[in-house]
Amino acid sequence: VRNGQAFVQTVADTAAVVSTTAPTDADDGNIVYYRRRNDRMEIALSFDDGPHPTYTQEILSILAEYGVPATFFMVGENVLYYPEAAEAVLAAGHEIGNHSYDHRRLTKLNEAGVRSQVSRCEEALASLGEYRLLRPPEGAMNATVRRVARAEGYRLILWDIDTRDWAHTPPDTITRNVLESVLAGDIILMHDYIGHDSPTPAALRRLIPALFERGYRFVTVSRLIDG
Ligand code: NI
Repeated sequence: VRNGQAFVQTVADTAAVVSTTAPTDADDGNIVYYRRRNDRMEIALSFDDGPHPTYTQEILSILAEYGVPATFFMVGENVLYYPEAAEAVLAAGHEIGNHSYDHRRLTKLNEAGVRSQVSRCEEALASLGEYRLLRPPEGAMNATVRRVARAEGYRLILWDIDTRDWAHTPPDTITRNVLESVLAGDIILMHDYIGHDSPTPAALRRLIPALFERGYRFVTVSRLIDG
């Protein structure tokens, strides 16, 4: 057991269920993470699907402006397409995680397929370091995904608040929704790769100062779940 037990999930979806007991299914054992409540007002921003040739840099600039660390779950294929953007994330000191090679829904694959998605992303990230956080695309998990994650030493990272930036939710709506539901320990899901007209940079410019004003502090996902 690598961590505390306070936020281990034992179901395969991303419903906001908090279990305060150790998992009973051995196959689930303590590798799936989302919120971990804390009294330090810590929350974590996470950005999926990148890197993106323009939005990643834009988001990095905003994070730098506010001195906010974040975690970027990268798609292996995009790392190969946009290596400079991936390197910029690393150079800025943010955390990096694995988000599969080409964003397959892992529950549709057999074990070899899951392994391939994870390891090909790992290879794409190799020049940036070795990472052991895995966010399955769409949060889709099953026993096979958990088995592979465990065998490869990964922790499976979900989220608590989906900003729905991927659906082009307007920045003000994103901001309002997050402020209405956020609690210390939450992992917030955003995206640095959105095909066009991303609302994410504008939302961040509103959200970060509003969260600071309410006393929240930003940490990486690892820091959040390790306490
Ligand atoms: Ni994704």
